[in-house]
Amino acid sequence: MSITIDGHQIDVLYSEDVIRGRISALAHEIATLKPQNLLVVPVLKGSFIFAADLIRAMHQAGLSPEVDFMMLSSYRKGTTSSGQVDVLRDIEASVKDRDVLLIDDILESGRTLAYAKDLIAARGARSVRSCVLLDKPGKLAANIKSDFAGFSCPDKFVVGYGMDMAHQFRELPFVGFVVPKS
Ligand code: IMP
Ligand code: MG
Repeated sequence: MSITIDGHQIDVLYSEDVIRGRISALAHEIATLKPQNLLVVPVLKGSFIFAADLIRAMHQAGLSPEVDFMMLSSYRKGTTSSGQVDVLRDIEASVKDRDVLLIDDILESGRTLAYAKDLIAARGARSVRSCVLLDKPGKLAANIKSDFAGFSCPDKFVVGYGMDMAHQFRELPFVGFVVPKS
C-alpha cells in the first residue's frame, strides 16, 4: 500500500496490525526478565507513539513500570546524523539500583542510545536495557546493540508511527518509507 502526502509518496513497510502483534510479543519478552522497580524511559520525540503502545502492552504482560521521559536531539534537520547528542530534557526519577528500559524508535548509528545508556548507568542503575522499534543494521558507529528490537529495518529513510522527516509524518499509524523523487 502507498499514500501520497504533500507530494511525497510513502510506501507502507509495517502496517498497524503487524506493529501491534510485534509489540505484544516484545512486552512479553521484556516481562520474562522480571524487572525490579522498573523505570521505562522513552527517548523523545520519535519514540512517543511506540512507547505509548509498548507500555500498554507491558501492562497486559503483567508489568507495572514507572515512566519518565528524556528528550535527546541527535538529528536536527534533514536525514543524516550530526554525530552530536544534546540533552533537551532529562528524567526526574532516580535510577539508583533500578532496572531501566530505554525506549527508542530507531537504532541507527547508536550514538543517541549509547549516550543515554552511559548517562543512566553512571547514575547507579542496576541495569540499563534498550528496546527499539527498528534496528537499522550495518550503520552502527557506537558500541551498543539493542536488547529488544521490533523489526530489522531496510536501509531506507522511514517515517510514521512517531518518526518524522523534517517534522512531518509523525501522525501516520504505520511505518512507511519515503520514496525518493526521481
Ligand atoms: P542514531 O544516534 O544514529 O542511532 O540515531 C537514531 C535516531 O535518528 C533515531 O532515534 C531517529 O530519531 C533518527 N533516525 C534515524 N534513522 C531515521 C529514519 O529512517 N527516519 C526517521 N528518523 C531516523
Ligand atoms: Mg530519536
